[in-house]
Order: sequence, then structure tokens, then C-alpha cells
Amino acid sequence: MSDPIAFDDPGYRRPILFIHGFPLTRAMWAGQVAGLQGVARPIALDLPGHGSSPARADGHTIDDLADACVHLLDQRGVTEPAVICGLSMGGYVAFALWRRHPQRVAGLVLCATRAGADTAAGRAGRDTLAAAVAERGIEAAVEAMRPKLLAPATYQERPELVARVEQIMRATSSAGAIADLAAMRDRPDSTPTLATITCPTLVIHGRDDQVMPVAEAETIAAGVPHARLVVLDRAGHLPNLEQPERFNAALSLF
Ligand code: MLT
Repeated sequence: MSDPIAFDDPGYRRPILFIHGFPLTRAMWAGQVAGLQGVARPIALDLPGHGSSPARADGHTIDDLADACVHLLDQRGVTEPAVICGLSMGGYVAFALWRRHPQRVAGLVLCATRAGADTAAGRAGRDTLAAAVAERGIEAAVEAMRPKLLAPATYQERPELVARVEQIMRATSSAGAIADLAAMRDRPDSTPTLATITCPTLVIHGRDDQVMPVAEAETIAAGVPHARLVVLDRAGHLPNLEQPERFNAALSLF
């Protein structure tokens, strides 16, 4: 019989890839990267044209963004399936990643997103905002998104978070934002994809989301076999920033 040996071994941790929304950066996931170290291997990326990742000369599509995510996983040596967590535009990328690389997906976390494509009015709105960004820079996107990204209570009670979100948005380049707007305008309808999703799926939405109503999350959860829906009170379009503890708890349980 050998002597008892003391040791620390964090063991295997499932990789979880965090994909930010428009016009944000990986900085929006700082609370998840720090908070989930003990239960997972959190990886957050800046999509092309956001934060520290340069924009592509010829723009990008949502499919390109999904492929960029898989390329990063390859680069990081993540060959086993990962949990893919996308918020809003990041959710559109997560749907594309599932369609294009299902073998890389261990589970999906779809936050503050929708399955449907843009309406005609929505597509026109993308072009209007892209023209404004081309003329005035990223500030035009900041002005458009600032009043609706957070819950009404967050604007009243957490001015430091409002300022932080503005700062994150300003780290996106004009070229990146313009490419995103074209990519979102042209993205396919993911509604038919929902029934094909066989991996474990968690849908998280803020009850006070002013960009996408909770009904969008309910549609996703109803369409994906065995999806679980979590609606967070006192959270808007960025529930991971507005309610980080409850968001992380839902993710840890998942
Ligand atoms: C986002 O937060 O990523 C965007 O609001 C998504 C969208 O405009 O469709």
C-alpha cells in the first residue's frame, strides 16, 4: 500500500466558446471568462473587425464568422466538441456553426437572439446604419445601440455599466461594423435549423430586452428538441453583463 499523496487536479474542463454581439467585443464576456474558470475552459474571441482582430479586406458573412470560430478552436488545439455560446449576432453565428460544423458542437447556448431572418424593413435599416457608420464612424452605431442594449432599470441604476458598454462598442472598427450589418442583413432564416439541433441547448434571454422580445427566445426553445429556457429578470439585451451571477449559474448548471 502506498503512502497518501496530496494533489491538486482541476481535471478535464469542457471548452466553451463565447461569441459576442453587434457592435461589441470579447470584453463583454470578461465576467464569464473569469467566473467559469473552475467549471469549464472559457474561450472568448473578437470577431473580425472587432476589438483586437483586424477587419477582413473583403468583409464577411455570418458563415465566414462561424468558420473563423472553428479556425480559432483549431488554433487553440480544441479538437473535441465545444459548447458554443453566442449572444444576439453571436447567436446567428452559433446557428451557422451548427449547420456547417455540427461535429464541433457539444452544446449550444443561445442568448438574446432570434432564429428568423431580417424583414424587408430590417434589411433597409441595416443599410441605413451602414451608410451612417461609413460617414460618421463607429459613433453612429454606438448612438443607435446605446439606448436599447440594456434594461430600463440598468440605465437608471448602473451608469458605470452603461459607460462600460459604450467603451466596448467603441473598440469595434467601422469596417467591422459595416461588414456585420451586411452579414446580418443577408443571413438565412434559421427557423428550419431549430428542429435539426440534437445537442443540449440552453436559451437565455433578458425579460426586459428592448432589441428582441422574449417571444423570440420562446420560439427557439419551442423549436429545438429538449431545449431549456431561462429568462432573467432585470436584464435587457446583455443579460451576461446585467445579471452575471445568475447568467453564470445557469451556464454552470448546463
Ligand atoms: C446584436 O446585438 O448583435 C444585434 O442587435 C443583432 C441584430 O441587430 O440583429
